[in-house]
Amino acid sequence: MNFEEEISLLIKSRYPLVLVDTIDEGYVLGQLAGVAGDQRLAFYSWSLSEGLRVGQNQNAFYKSGDPAAMLRIANDLVKEQQPALFVFCDLDRFLADAAPARLFKDLLNKAKGTPTTVVLLGAEVKLPADLAPLAARISGGYPDEKQILAEVNRMVADFRLKSSALSVDMPPETLMRVVKTLKGLSLQQVRNAMNLCLLKDAAFDGRDVAELERFKKEAFDRDGILEYFGSEQPSGIAGYANLKRWVSDRKKTFFSDGPLPPPKGVLLLGVQGCGKSLAAKVTAGELGIPLYRLDLTRLYSKYIGETEENLRKALATVERLSPVCLWIDEIEKIFASSSGDIDGGVSKRVLGTMLTWMQERKDRSFIAATSNDINGLPPELLRKGRFDEIFFADLPDVSAREGIIKIHLLKRGLIPAEFDTGVLALNSEGFSGAEIEQAVISALYSASGAGEKISTQHVLTQLKQTSPLSVIKAEAVGFLRNWAKERNILPV
Ligand SMILES: Nc1ncnc2c1ncn2[C@@H]1O[C@H](COP(=O)(O)OP(=O)(O)OP(=O)(O)O)[C@@H](O)[C@H]1O
Ligand SMILES: [Mg+2]
Repeated sequence: MNFEEEISLLIKSRYPLVLVDTIDEGYVLGQLAGVAGDQRLAFYSWSLSEGLRVGQNQNAFYKSGDPAAMLRIANDLVKEQQPALFVFCDLDRFLADAAPARLFKDLLNKAKGTPTTVVLLGAEVKLPADLAPLAARISGGYPDEKQILAEVNRMVADFRLKSSALSVDMPPETLMRVVKTLKGLSLQQVRNAMNLCLLKDAAFDGRDVAELERFKKEAFDRDGILEYFGSEQPSGIAGYANLKRWVSDRKKTFFSDGPLPPPKGVLLLGVQGCGKSLAAKVTAGELGIPLYRLDLTRLYSKYIGETEENLRKALATVERLSPVCLWIDEIEKIFASSSGDIDGGVSKRVLGTMLTWMQERKDRSFIAATSNDINGLPPELLRKGRFDEIFFADLPDVSAREGIIKIHLLKRGLIPAEFDTGVLALNSEGFSGAEIEQAVISALYSASGAGEKISTQHVLTQLKQTSPLSVIKAEAVGFLRNWAKERNILPV
Protein backbone atom coordinates (compact mmCIF):
# COMPACT_ATOMS: atom_id res chain seq x y z
CA MET A 1 0.00 0.00 0.00
CA ASN A 2 1.35 3.44 -0.82
CA PHE A 3 0.91 6.52 1.34
CA GLU A 4 -2.22 7.80 -0.39
CA GLU A 5 -3.95 4.43 -0.10
CA GLU A 6 -2.95 4.11 3.53
CA ILE A 7 -4.22 7.54 4.59
CA SER A 8 -7.40 7.15 2.54
CA LEU A 9 -8.15 3.92 4.36
CA LEU A 10 -7.59 5.57 7.75
CA ILE A 11 -9.90 8.44 6.84
CA LYS A 12 -12.59 6.03 5.64
CA SER A 13 -12.16 4.04 8.86
CA ARG A 14 -12.97 7.31 10.67
CA TYR A 15 -9.83 7.70 12.67
CA PRO A 16 -10.17 11.15 14.27
CA LEU A 17 -6.38 11.62 14.44
CA VAL A 18 -3.55 10.46 12.20
CA LEU A 19 0.11 11.22 12.91
CA VAL A 20 2.25 11.46 9.80
CA ASP A 21 6.02 11.40 10.24
CA THR A 22 7.79 12.91 7.29
CA ILE A 23 10.92 14.77 6.33
CA ASP A 24 9.27 15.95 3.15
CA GLU A 25 6.48 18.21 4.36
CA GLY A 26 5.70 19.95 1.07
CA TYR A 27 5.33 16.71 -0.83
CA VAL A 28 3.08 15.11 1.77
CA LEU A 29 0.90 18.23 2.00
CA GLY A 30 0.38 17.97 -1.76
CA GLN A 31 -0.56 14.31 -1.47
CA LEU A 32 -2.98 15.04 1.38
CA ALA A 33 -4.64 17.80 -0.62
CA GLY A 34 -5.10 15.28 -3.44
CA VAL A 35 -6.63 12.70 -1.09
CA ALA A 36 -9.00 15.34 0.34
CA GLY A 37 -10.08 16.19 -3.20
CA ASP A 38 -10.73 12.54 -4.06
CA GLN A 39 -12.82 12.01 -0.94
CA ARG A 40 -14.65 15.33 -1.26
CA LEU A 41 -13.34 16.68 2.02
CA ALA A 42 -12.72 20.35 2.71
CA PHE A 43 -8.94 20.77 3.08
CA TYR A 44 -7.46 23.00 5.78
CA SER A 45 -3.74 23.30 6.44
CA TRP A 46 -1.94 25.14 9.22
CA SER A 47 1.56 26.11 10.25
CA LEU A 48 2.79 28.71 12.71
CA SER A 49 4.23 30.86 9.94
CA GLU A 50 1.42 30.58 7.40
CA GLY A 51 -1.65 30.38 9.61
CA LEU A 52 -4.79 28.38 8.76
CA ARG A 53 -5.71 28.24 5.08
CA VAL A 54 -8.52 26.65 3.08
CA GLY A 55 -7.45 24.50 0.13
CA GLN A 56 -4.89 26.24 -2.07
CA ASN A 57 -6.04 29.65 -0.87
CA GLN A 58 -3.11 31.99 -0.21
CA ASN A 59 -4.92 34.02 2.44
CA ALA A 60 -5.05 32.68 5.96
CA PHE A 61 -7.86 33.11 8.48
CA TYR A 62 -7.49 36.32 10.45
CA LYS A 63 -4.84 36.01 13.20
CA SER A 64 -4.73 32.21 12.88
CA GLY A 65 -0.93 31.98 13.35
CA ASP A 66 -1.42 31.52 17.07
CA PRO A 67 -2.14 27.83 17.84
CA ALA A 68 -4.94 28.51 20.34
CA ALA A 69 -6.63 31.06 18.07
CA MET A 70 -6.37 28.65 15.13
CA LEU A 71 -7.86 25.78 17.14
CA ARG A 72 -10.82 27.98 18.12
CA ILE A 73 -11.48 28.61 14.44
CA ALA A 74 -11.09 24.90 13.64
CA ASN A 75 -13.58 24.03 16.38
CA ASP A 76 -16.08 26.35 14.69
CA LEU A 77 -15.37 24.86 11.29
CA VAL A 78 -16.12 21.23 12.32
CA LYS A 79 -19.62 22.24 13.22
CA GLU A 80 -20.31 22.81 9.54
CA GLN A 81 -21.97 20.11 7.45
CA GLN A 82 -19.00 19.61 5.14
CA PRO A 83 -16.60 16.91 6.42
CA ALA A 84 -12.98 18.07 6.42
CA LEU A 85 -9.34 17.09 6.50
CA PHE A 86 -7.30 19.29 8.84
CA VAL A 87 -3.52 19.12 8.51
CA PHE A 88 -1.47 20.82 11.23
CA CYS A 89 2.31 21.09 10.78
CA ASP A 90 4.35 20.83 13.98
CA LEU A 91 1.31 21.50 16.17
CA ASP A 92 2.43 18.74 18.56
CA ARG A 93 5.09 21.13 19.89
CA PHE A 94 2.39 23.40 21.32
CA LEU A 95 0.24 20.72 22.93
CA ALA A 96 2.13 20.90 26.23
CA ASP A 97 0.37 24.24 26.90
CA ALA A 98 -3.01 24.13 28.59
CA ALA A 99 -5.05 26.20 26.10
CA PRO A 100 -4.01 24.50 22.85
CA ALA A 101 -4.20 21.08 24.55
CA ARG A 102 -7.82 21.68 25.67
CA LEU A 103 -8.93 23.09 22.33
CA PHE A 104 -7.24 20.25 20.46
CA LYS A 105 -9.08 17.67 22.58
CA ASP A 106 -12.35 19.44 21.92
CA LEU A 107 -11.66 19.32 18.21
CA LEU A 108 -10.93 15.58 18.31
CA ASN A 109 -14.06 14.91 20.31
CA LYS A 110 -16.10 16.65 17.66
CA ALA A 111 -14.35 14.79 14.85
CA LYS A 112 -14.78 11.38 16.51
CA GLY A 113 -17.16 9.15 14.59
CA THR A 114 -17.49 11.68 11.74
CA PRO A 115 -15.72 11.63 8.36
CA THR A 116 -13.61 14.59 9.55
CA THR A 117 -9.97 13.71 10.22
CA VAL A 118 -7.16 15.65 11.87
CA VAL A 119 -3.59 15.02 10.70
CA LEU A 120 -0.52 16.06 12.69
CA LEU A 121 2.46 16.40 10.42
CA GLY A 122 6.08 16.56 11.58
CA ALA A 123 9.50 15.02 11.40
CA GLU A 124 8.74 12.86 14.42
CA VAL A 125 5.33 13.74 15.84
CA LYS A 126 5.15 13.47 19.63
CA LEU A 127 1.74 13.14 21.22
CA PRO A 128 0.67 13.63 24.87
CA ALA A 129 0.04 10.17 26.38
CA ASP A 130 -3.72 10.70 26.92
CA LEU A 131 -4.32 11.28 23.20
CA ALA A 132 -2.29 8.35 21.96
CA PRO A 133 -5.18 5.80 21.88
CA LEU A 134 -7.10 7.96 19.41
CA ALA A 135 -4.28 8.12 16.89
CA ALA A 136 -2.87 6.04 14.06
CA ARG A 137 0.70 6.68 12.98
CA ILE A 138 2.13 6.34 9.49
CA SER A 139 5.14 7.65 7.58
CA GLY A 140 4.69 9.85 4.56
CA GLY A 141 6.72 11.25 1.74
CA TYR A 142 8.31 7.95 0.83
CA PRO A 143 7.47 7.14 -2.76
CA ASP A 144 6.79 3.51 -3.71
CA GLU A 145 8.75 1.66 -6.40
CA LYS A 146 6.47 2.80 -9.19
CA GLN A 147 6.76 6.42 -8.17
CA ILE A 148 10.55 6.10 -7.80
CA LEU A 149 10.88 4.60 -11.27
CA ALA A 150 8.80 7.44 -12.70
CA GLU A 151 10.95 10.01 -10.90
CA VAL A 152 14.21 8.39 -12.05
CA ASN A 153 12.99 8.32 -15.66
CA ARG A 154 11.80 11.89 -15.42
CA MET A 155 15.14 13.10 -14.03
CA VAL A 156 17.16 11.23 -16.65
CA ALA A 157 14.99 12.64 -19.46
CA ASP A 158 15.29 16.12 -17.94
CA PHE A 159 19.03 15.84 -17.63
CA ARG A 160 19.28 14.69 -21.24
CA LEU A 161 17.35 17.72 -22.43
CA LYS A 162 19.74 20.03 -20.62
CA SER A 163 22.95 18.19 -21.33
CA SER A 164 23.04 16.03 -24.42
CA ALA A 165 26.28 14.47 -23.16
CA LEU A 166 24.57 12.14 -20.64
CA SER A 167 25.44 8.55 -21.45
CA VAL A 168 22.95 5.98 -20.19
CA ASP A 169 23.69 2.28 -19.90
CA MET A 170 20.91 0.80 -17.79
CA PRO A 171 19.80 -2.75 -18.49
CA PRO A 172 16.43 -3.52 -16.84
CA GLU A 173 17.98 -5.54 -13.96
CA THR A 174 20.32 -2.70 -13.05
CA LEU A 175 17.49 -0.18 -13.22
CA MET A 176 15.47 -2.47 -10.91
CA ARG A 177 18.37 -2.46 -8.47
CA VAL A 178 18.57 1.33 -8.63
CA VAL A 179 14.86 1.55 -7.79
CA LYS A 180 15.19 -0.95 -4.93
CA THR A 181 18.14 0.98 -3.56
CA LEU A 182 16.23 4.26 -3.62
CA LYS A 183 13.23 2.68 -1.89
CA GLY A 184 12.87 3.99 1.64
CA LEU A 185 14.22 7.44 0.81
CA SER A 186 11.98 10.49 0.69
CA LEU A 187 11.24 12.01 -2.70
CA GLN A 188 13.64 14.87 -1.97
CA GLN A 189 16.37 12.40 -1.04
CA VAL A 190 15.72 10.41 -4.22
CA ARG A 191 16.20 13.61 -6.20
CA ASN A 192 19.38 14.51 -4.32
CA ALA A 193 20.84 11.04 -4.79
CA MET A 194 20.00 10.97 -8.49
CA ASN A 195 21.43 14.46 -9.03
CA LEU A 196 24.64 13.32 -7.42
CA CYS A 197 24.86 10.35 -9.79
CA LEU A 198 24.04 12.28 -12.92
CA LEU A 199 26.19 15.33 -12.23
CA LYS A 200 29.26 13.44 -11.10
CA ASP A 201 30.24 11.92 -14.43
CA ALA A 202 27.40 12.71 -16.84
CA ALA A 203 26.68 8.99 -17.00
CA PHE A 204 23.99 6.77 -15.57
CA ASP A 205 25.12 3.16 -15.43
CA GLY A 206 25.92 0.17 -13.21
CA ARG A 207 28.59 2.09 -11.30
CA ASP A 208 25.93 4.38 -9.90
CA VAL A 209 24.41 1.53 -7.89
CA ALA A 210 27.30 1.58 -5.39
CA GLU A 211 27.06 5.39 -5.28
CA LEU A 212 23.35 5.20 -4.42
CA GLU A 213 23.90 2.47 -1.86
CA ARG A 214 26.47 4.64 -0.12
CA PHE A 215 24.12 7.62 -0.22
CA LYS A 216 21.35 5.59 1.38
CA LYS A 217 23.61 4.26 4.09
CA GLU A 218 24.74 7.81 4.96
CA ALA A 219 21.12 8.92 5.12
CA PHE A 220 19.99 6.18 7.47
CA ASP A 221 22.92 5.11 9.56
CA ARG A 222 23.77 8.35 11.33
CA ASP A 223 25.49 6.54 14.21
CA GLY A 224 27.73 4.65 11.83
CA ILE A 225 27.14 1.24 13.38
CA LEU A 226 26.95 -0.30 9.93
CA GLU A 227 29.90 -0.24 7.59
CA TYR A 228 29.42 -0.32 3.83
CA PHE A 229 31.45 -2.97 2.01
CA GLY A 230 31.84 -3.76 -1.63
CA SER A 231 30.67 -7.25 -2.53
CA GLU A 232 32.74 -9.88 -4.40
CA GLN A 233 31.86 -12.03 -7.36
CA PRO A 234 31.79 -15.85 -6.92
CA SER A 235 34.92 -16.15 -9.09
CA GLY A 236 36.89 -14.41 -6.32
CA ILE A 237 36.75 -17.44 -4.03
CA ALA A 238 38.03 -20.96 -4.69
CA GLY A 239 36.09 -23.98 -3.42
CA TYR A 240 32.84 -23.17 -1.60
CA ALA A 241 30.85 -25.06 -4.25
CA ASN A 242 28.05 -25.99 -1.82
CA LEU A 243 27.58 -22.47 -0.55
CA LYS A 244 27.68 -20.99 -4.05
CA ARG A 245 25.03 -23.46 -5.25
CA TRP A 246 22.91 -22.90 -2.15
CA VAL A 247 22.89 -19.15 -2.72
CA SER A 248 22.32 -19.30 -6.46
CA ASP A 249 19.39 -21.73 -5.97
CA ARG A 250 17.72 -19.20 -3.67
CA LYS A 251 18.60 -16.06 -5.53
CA LYS A 252 15.26 -15.92 -7.33
CA THR A 253 13.10 -16.41 -4.25
CA PHE A 254 15.01 -13.66 -2.48
CA PHE A 255 13.34 -11.08 -4.68
CA SER A 256 10.07 -12.77 -5.58
CA ASP A 257 6.84 -12.93 -3.64
CA GLY A 258 6.20 -16.54 -4.62
CA PRO A 259 5.15 -19.39 -2.33
CA LEU A 260 8.72 -20.16 -1.18
CA PRO A 261 9.94 -18.08 1.76
CA PRO A 262 12.93 -15.87 0.92
CA PRO A 263 16.25 -17.05 2.41
CA LYS A 264 17.13 -15.34 5.70
CA GLY A 265 20.72 -16.15 6.37
CA VAL A 266 23.63 -18.48 6.86
CA LEU A 267 26.20 -19.07 9.54
CA LEU A 268 29.72 -19.86 8.36
CA LEU A 269 31.82 -21.69 10.91
CA GLY A 270 35.33 -22.85 10.35
CA VAL A 271 39.06 -22.76 10.54
CA GLN A 272 40.83 -19.39 10.66
CA GLY A 273 41.87 -17.90 7.35
CA CYS A 274 39.77 -20.29 5.27
CA GLY A 275 37.75 -17.60 3.53
CA LYS A 276 34.63 -17.19 5.68
CA SER A 277 34.74 -13.41 5.61
CA LEU A 278 35.42 -13.50 1.89
CA ALA A 279 32.47 -15.87 1.44
CA ALA A 280 30.17 -13.35 3.12
CA LYS A 281 31.15 -10.80 0.45
CA VAL A 282 30.64 -13.36 -2.30
CA THR A 283 27.18 -14.19 -0.96
CA ALA A 284 26.14 -10.53 -1.20
CA GLY A 285 27.65 -10.36 -4.70
CA GLU A 286 25.75 -13.43 -5.85
CA LEU A 287 22.47 -12.16 -4.38
CA GLY A 288 23.09 -8.78 -6.00
CA ILE A 289 22.58 -6.77 -2.81
CA PRO A 290 24.87 -4.42 -0.91
CA LEU A 291 26.88 -5.66 2.04
CA TYR A 292 26.90 -3.92 5.41
CA ARG A 293 29.01 -5.05 8.28
CA LEU A 294 27.75 -4.62 11.81
CA ASP A 295 30.57 -2.76 13.53
CA LEU A 296 30.79 -4.44 16.92
CA THR A 297 33.30 -1.96 18.31
CA ARG A 298 30.72 0.80 17.84
CA LEU A 299 27.93 -1.31 19.22
CA TYR A 300 29.24 -1.60 22.74
CA SER A 301 28.76 1.34 25.01
CA LYS A 302 29.77 1.80 28.61
CA TYR A 303 26.39 3.26 29.46
CA ILE A 304 23.72 0.96 30.81
CA GLY A 305 21.10 0.02 28.27
CA GLU A 306 22.84 1.81 25.45
CA THR A 307 24.37 -1.27 23.86
CA GLU A 308 21.00 -2.93 23.28
CA GLU A 309 19.60 0.37 22.12
CA ASN A 310 22.48 0.63 19.63
CA LEU A 311 21.77 -2.88 18.38
CA ARG A 312 18.05 -2.19 18.08
CA LYS A 313 18.78 0.97 16.11
CA ALA A 314 21.23 -0.85 13.85
CA LEU A 315 18.70 -3.61 13.15
CA ALA A 316 15.96 -1.07 12.45
CA THR A 317 18.36 0.62 10.04
CA VAL A 318 18.97 -2.73 8.33
CA GLU A 319 15.21 -3.09 7.86
CA ARG A 320 14.97 0.35 6.30
CA LEU A 321 17.96 -0.34 4.06
CA SER A 322 16.74 -3.76 2.97
CA PRO A 323 17.28 -5.59 0.68
CA VAL A 324 20.78 -5.84 2.07
CA CYS A 325 23.20 -8.45 3.29
CA LEU A 326 24.01 -7.90 6.96
CA TRP A 327 27.46 -9.24 7.66
CA ILE A 328 28.14 -10.11 11.27
CA ASP A 329 31.79 -11.06 11.27
CA GLU A 330 32.99 -13.12 14.24
CA ILE A 331 29.49 -13.20 15.67
CA GLU A 332 30.70 -14.88 18.86
CA LYS A 333 32.18 -11.53 19.90
CA ILE A 334 28.70 -10.03 20.34
CA PHE A 335 27.99 -12.66 22.94
CA ALA A 336 31.50 -12.71 24.34
CA SER A 337 30.41 -13.10 27.93
CA SER A 338 26.81 -14.14 27.73
CA SER A 339 27.47 -17.08 30.02
CA GLY A 340 28.78 -14.90 32.83
CA ASP A 341 27.27 -11.82 34.36
CA ILE A 342 30.46 -9.78 34.66
CA ASP A 343 29.02 -7.20 32.30
CA GLY A 344 25.72 -6.87 34.14
CA GLY A 345 23.86 -9.07 31.72
CA VAL A 346 24.43 -6.80 28.73
CA SER A 347 25.50 -9.55 26.37
CA LYS A 348 22.59 -11.74 27.47
CA ARG A 349 20.17 -8.98 26.59
CA VAL A 350 22.02 -8.35 23.36
CA LEU A 351 21.63 -12.03 22.51
CA GLY A 352 17.92 -11.80 23.29
CA THR A 353 17.48 -8.74 21.07
CA MET A 354 19.39 -10.43 18.27
CA LEU A 355 17.52 -13.74 18.46
CA THR A 356 14.13 -12.08 18.60
CA TRP A 357 14.94 -9.99 15.58
CA MET A 358 16.23 -12.98 13.64
CA GLN A 359 13.05 -14.87 14.37
CA GLU A 360 10.48 -12.17 13.78
CA ARG A 361 11.83 -9.90 11.08
CA LYS A 362 9.75 -9.61 7.96
CA ASP A 363 12.11 -7.51 5.89
CA ARG A 364 14.18 -8.75 3.01
CA SER A 365 17.64 -8.75 4.45
CA PHE A 366 20.07 -11.63 4.47
CA ILE A 367 22.38 -12.35 7.37
CA ALA A 368 25.84 -13.73 6.69
CA ALA A 369 27.41 -14.48 10.06
CA THR A 370 30.85 -15.96 10.56
CA SER A 371 32.69 -17.48 13.49
CA ASN A 372 35.87 -19.43 14.13
CA ASP A 373 35.21 -20.05 17.81
CA ILE A 374 32.34 -22.43 18.43
CA ASN A 375 32.97 -22.38 22.17
CA GLY A 376 31.98 -18.75 22.19
CA LEU A 377 28.69 -19.38 20.41
CA PRO A 378 25.54 -19.60 22.49
CA PRO A 379 23.71 -22.87 21.68
CA GLU A 380 20.47 -20.95 21.06
CA LEU A 381 22.05 -19.50 17.96
CA LEU A 382 22.71 -22.89 16.42
CA ARG A 383 19.17 -24.11 16.91
CA LYS A 384 17.09 -24.81 13.81
CA GLY A 385 15.22 -21.87 12.43
CA ARG A 386 17.71 -19.20 13.41
CA PHE A 387 19.80 -19.60 10.27
CA ASP A 388 18.59 -21.37 7.13
CA GLU A 389 21.84 -23.29 7.00
CA ILE A 390 25.12 -23.67 8.85
CA PHE A 391 28.23 -24.29 6.76
CA PHE A 392 31.66 -25.47 7.82
CA ALA A 393 34.75 -24.04 6.13
CA ASP A 394 37.47 -26.63 6.49
CA LEU A 395 41.06 -26.37 5.31
CA PRO A 396 40.93 -26.31 1.49
CA ASP A 397 41.40 -29.61 -0.38
CA VAL A 398 43.92 -29.96 -3.18
CA SER A 399 41.71 -28.63 -5.95
CA ALA A 400 40.54 -25.66 -3.86
CA ARG A 401 44.19 -24.94 -3.03
CA GLU A 402 45.06 -24.85 -6.72
CA GLY A 403 42.15 -22.47 -7.26
CA ILE A 404 43.34 -20.23 -4.41
CA ILE A 405 46.87 -20.09 -5.85
CA LYS A 406 45.52 -19.10 -9.26
CA ILE A 407 43.28 -16.39 -7.82
CA HIS A 408 46.12 -14.81 -5.88
CA LEU A 409 48.63 -14.99 -8.72
CA LEU A 410 46.08 -13.28 -10.96
CA LYS A 411 45.39 -10.66 -8.29
CA ARG A 412 49.07 -9.65 -8.43
CA GLY A 413 49.10 -9.40 -12.19
CA LEU A 414 50.84 -12.76 -12.73
CA ILE A 415 49.86 -15.45 -15.24
CA PRO A 416 48.88 -18.71 -13.51
CA ALA A 417 49.73 -20.76 -16.64
CA GLU A 418 53.37 -19.78 -16.17
CA PHE A 419 53.42 -21.59 -12.80
CA ASP A 420 53.10 -25.23 -11.90
CA THR A 421 50.01 -24.64 -9.82
CA GLY A 422 49.42 -28.41 -9.46
CA VAL A 423 52.74 -28.88 -7.66
CA LEU A 424 52.11 -25.85 -5.46
CA ALA A 425 48.70 -27.24 -4.52
CA LEU A 426 50.21 -30.60 -3.56
CA ASN A 427 52.83 -28.87 -1.44
CA SER A 428 50.43 -26.74 0.54
CA GLU A 429 48.51 -29.44 2.35
CA GLY A 430 47.25 -28.17 5.71
CA PHE A 431 47.49 -24.53 4.62
CA SER A 432 44.59 -22.14 4.91
CA GLY A 433 43.67 -19.83 2.04
CA ALA A 434 45.12 -16.88 3.94
CA GLU A 435 48.42 -18.73 4.41
CA ILE A 436 48.61 -19.62 0.72
CA GLU A 437 47.96 -15.98 -0.17
CA GLN A 438 50.72 -14.96 2.22
CA ALA A 439 53.16 -17.42 0.58
CA VAL A 440 52.46 -15.89 -2.83
CA ILE A 441 53.06 -12.37 -1.48
CA SER A 442 56.28 -13.39 0.32
CA ALA A 443 57.52 -15.11 -2.86
CA LEU A 444 56.98 -11.87 -4.77
CA TYR A 445 59.09 -10.01 -2.21
CA SER A 446 61.89 -12.55 -2.18
CA ALA A 447 62.03 -12.73 -5.99
CA SER A 448 62.08 -8.96 -6.34
CA GLY A 449 64.72 -8.71 -3.56
CA ALA A 450 66.94 -11.11 -5.49
CA GLY A 451 66.23 -9.29 -8.76
CA GLU A 452 64.63 -12.40 -10.23
CA LYS A 453 61.37 -13.05 -12.07
CA ILE A 454 58.99 -14.88 -9.72
CA SER A 455 58.60 -18.59 -10.47
CA THR A 456 57.07 -21.76 -9.02
CA GLN A 457 60.30 -22.29 -7.07
CA HIS A 458 59.97 -19.01 -5.15
CA VAL A 459 56.46 -19.89 -4.00
CA LEU A 460 57.49 -23.44 -3.17
CA THR A 461 60.32 -22.16 -0.97
CA GLN A 462 57.93 -19.93 0.92
CA LEU A 463 55.49 -22.80 1.44
CA LYS A 464 58.28 -25.00 2.79
CA GLN A 465 59.38 -22.29 5.21
CA THR A 466 55.89 -21.84 6.64
CA SER A 467 54.42 -23.82 9.49
CA PRO A 468 50.70 -23.56 8.96
CA LEU A 469 48.27 -22.96 11.80
CA SER A 470 46.92 -26.48 11.33
CA VAL A 471 50.32 -27.68 12.56
CA ILE A 472 51.08 -25.05 15.18
CA LYS A 473 47.58 -25.19 16.62
CA ALA A 474 46.87 -28.77 15.61
CA GLU A 475 44.75 -29.43 18.68
CA ALA A 476 42.42 -26.44 18.26
CA VAL A 477 41.98 -27.06 14.55
CA GLY A 478 41.39 -30.77 15.17
CA PHE A 479 38.76 -29.98 17.79
CA LEU A 480 36.91 -27.70 15.39
CA ARG A 481 36.97 -30.24 12.57
CA ASN A 482 35.75 -33.02 14.85
CA TRP A 483 33.01 -30.84 16.22
CA ALA A 484 31.72 -30.17 12.71
CA LYS A 485 32.04 -33.82 11.70
CA GLU A 486 30.10 -35.13 14.71
CA ARG A 487 27.27 -32.75 13.96
CA ASN A 488 27.20 -33.38 10.24
CA ILE A 489 27.66 -29.73 9.43
CA LEU A 490 27.48 -29.13 5.69
CA PRO A 491 30.90 -28.41 4.15
CA VAL A 492 31.16 -25.13 2.23
N1 LIG B 1 38.87 -20.19 -0.68
C1 LIG B 1 39.56 -19.06 -0.88
N2 LIG B 1 39.66 -18.53 -2.12
C2 LIG B 1 40.37 -17.40 -2.34
N3 LIG B 1 41.00 -16.73 -1.39
C3 LIG B 1 40.95 -17.18 -0.12
C4 LIG B 1 40.22 -18.37 0.19
N4 LIG B 1 40.32 -18.59 1.52
C5 LIG B 1 41.06 -17.57 2.00
N5 LIG B 1 41.45 -16.73 1.04
C6 LIG B 1 42.28 -15.50 1.18
O1 LIG B 1 42.61 -15.35 2.54
C7 LIG B 1 42.13 -14.10 3.03
C8 LIG B 1 41.66 -14.25 4.45
O2 LIG B 1 40.47 -15.03 4.45
P1 LIG B 1 39.23 -14.68 5.35
O3 LIG B 1 39.51 -13.46 6.14
O4 LIG B 1 38.05 -14.67 4.50
O5 LIG B 1 39.21 -15.93 6.30
P2 LIG B 1 38.29 -16.22 7.54
O6 LIG B 1 37.85 -17.62 7.40
O7 LIG B 1 37.29 -15.18 7.67
O8 LIG B 1 39.34 -16.12 8.74
P3 LIG B 1 39.07 -15.76 10.28
O9 LIG B 1 38.45 -16.95 10.90
O10 LIG B 1 40.44 -15.51 10.79
O11 LIG B 1 38.19 -14.57 10.31
C9 LIG B 1 41.03 -13.71 2.07
O12 LIG B 1 40.86 -12.32 2.02
C10 LIG B 1 41.53 -14.27 0.77
O13 LIG B 1 42.43 -13.36 0.17
MG1 LIG C 1 37.02 -13.66 9.05
